[in-house]
Amino acid sequence: MNKMTVRDVSFAGKRALVRVDFNVPLKAGVVTDDTRIRAALPTLSHILEQGGSAVLMSHLGRPDGTRDPEASLKPVAECLSKLVGKPVQFVDDCIGDGVREKVKNLKAGEILVLENVRFHKAETAKDDSCREFAKQLAEWGDLFVNDAFGSAHRPHASVSRVTEFLQPAVAGFLLEKEIEYLVNKTAHAERPFVAILGGAKVSDKIKVIQNLLTKVDVLLIGGAMAYTLLKSKGLKVGSSRVEDDKLDLASDILIDAEESRKCQMLLPCDHVVAEKLEAGAATQVVKDIPDNMMGLDIGPETRKTYKDLIQSAKTVVWNGPMGVFEIPPFDEGTRDIAQAIANTDCVSIIGGGDSVAAIAKFGLTDKVTHISTGGGASLELLEGRDLPGLTSLTDKG
Ligand code: 3PG
Repeated sequence: MNKMTVRDVSFAGKRALVRVDFNVPLKAGVVTDDTRIRAALPTLSHILEQGGSAVLMSHLGRPDGTRDPEASLKPVAECLSKLVGKPVQFVDDCIGDGVREKVKNLKAGEILVLENVRFHKAETAKDDSCREFAKQLAEWGDLFVNDAFGSAHRPHASVSRVTEFLQPAVAGFLLEKEIEYLVNKTAHAERPFVAILGGAKVSDKIKVIQNLLTKVDVLLIGGAMAYTLLKSKGLKVGSSRVEDDKLDLASDILIDAEESRKCQMLLPCDHVVAEKLEAGAATQVVKDIPDNMMGLDIGPETRKTYKDLIQSAKTVVWNGPMGVFEIPPFDEGTRDIAQAIANTDCVSIIGGGDSVAAIAKFGLTDKVTHISTGGGASLELLEGRDLPGLTSLTDKG
């Protein structure tokens, strides 16, 4: 990564303006999953231990320019305070005189959390107001740190526009680590390199498939997106979820895969089907899906083939579940794949979103090399795209 990081600057006596991704789930004002908050701690400790102070900004949800109390970062500041074991200050806006006062009085070793940046429409605006808002935010720091990997694909004021007014702009440890796994470790992957892609829609993953076809040795497909691909080959998919308007796109992908000399793309060869998507529904395993049945998971033969390939891999990237993993018995394919990944000693990278939820559900979080904290951001990296939150940082010397 040719960008400056927190290792390249001194924080002694400095006030760091830090963009974090504290977009965490809340229930009745309590944080129900603090993974993203804990992921920011190494960067925060580093700043404070060097004698700096930290002004944190984040979004939470999509309040779209309104002051929605349910999207306040106050409970998140309280959660952070418990995790760092000391008081964390909070201010109920992210620009204006109230913030200026708090920032001015912030001492070395202290943390101030600003209120949700998306309470201001300008944060996400596509006009000049975004730049103006970024300028106001930039006032709060002597330098900028971006550690919000989950938001790095957003060209928003607090993510990428603020760097126009505040330099140096450096990557935090979390952003650096995510890039190391999702970009460097996949660009120079130890082979065989196997990618597993699932999820509901082929249209969401088209660019990822196209990019991975040029990089991996084997691409294993599961989830409902497989039924669109199978239907485009003329196979029977019954009443499975299919994107009928994407069948041409699906055929193009299959042609690309066939023409790829590098990569072998596999579709499921058998399926767990049921008449309805219902917990505990009566299931069958079939190769051709009857008209009144829908495919809801990959079948045992597919699992065996996929598991064998995973076992022989040296690098694995996984994005998207193999079936409806939230509803048993349709969780078995996803569980088997998660277990197979956990059992190998290869470099295993879980690329955000539902696959992270799945690996957590099966209690295998500690058994993989890297779990991304970003859904959309990791997908964009797997598509081979640049992230504004990264490109806007200061280049190394
Ligand atoms: C996420 O949860 O994926 C990130 O925080 C980005 O949120 P957004 O999709 O609302 O920009």
